[in-house]
Amino acid sequence: MPKVLITREQIATRVTEMGQEISRDFAGQSVMLIGVLKGACLFLSDLARQIELDATFDFIAVSSYGAAKQSAGEVQLIKDVTGPLQNQNVILVEDILDTGLTLSFLTKLFEARQPRALKIAALLDKPSRRQRPIEADYIGFKIPDEFVVGYGLDYAEHYRNLADICILDNAGPK
Ligand code: IMP
Ligand code: MG
Repeated sequence: MPKVLITREQIATRVTEMGQEISRDFAGQSVMLIGVLKGACLFLSDLARQIELDATFDFIAVSSYGAAKQSAGEVQLIKDVTGPLQNQNVILVEDILDTGLTLSFLTKLFEARQPRALKIAALLDKPSRRQRPIEADYIGFKIPDEFVVGYGLDYAEHYRNLADICILDNAGPK
C-alpha cells in the first residue's frame, strides 16, 4: 500500500481555508471554476462547496502523463470549455503544479479570451520540478519531489479514489 503523505483530515481543513480565501477575494462577484480533468475532479467538488459565492463549473482536458510518471514535455487541449470566458472571474482548478508546462499553456490560452480575472488554484505544488516560471494563486500544500496518488491523482489511472494523498513507491499500480 502507498504511504500516506497528507491525510483526508488535513486535506479537508486546507480546502476549507482555500474556499474561504477565494470567497473573500471575490466577495460580491461570481466565479467560474474550470477543472482540469480528471485529476482535479475531487478537489473541485470539495473546493466548490467551500466557496460562498455564485459559481459555475466547467471542465477541460489536456494530454496527460498517460501510463508514465514523466511528462511528455508538450501539452495539448483535448477538451475545451463550453462557453466564453470574457468578463468572467476564472479560477483554473488543478490537482498539482509540477513542471508548470500544463498551467503555463492553459493560462496563455485563456488569457487570450479576456477573462476579468484568471487565477490558479492548485491542491499540490512541487516547486523543485518547475520548468516554467509559474505560481498558483491558491496552493493547498507544497510537497517534496515524490510521485503522489490519491484524492484524484493517479498512476496509470489507478488510485484516484484513495481518500488520502499517498506517496507511490516504484512498485507500480496495485
Ligand atoms: P505539469 O505540467 O508538469 O505541471 O504537470 C501537471 C500534471 O502532471 C498534473 O495535472 C498531473 O496530472 C501530473 N502529475 C504531476 N506530478 C504528479 C504526481 O506526483 N502524481 C500524479 N500526477 C502527477
Ligand atoms: Mg492532471
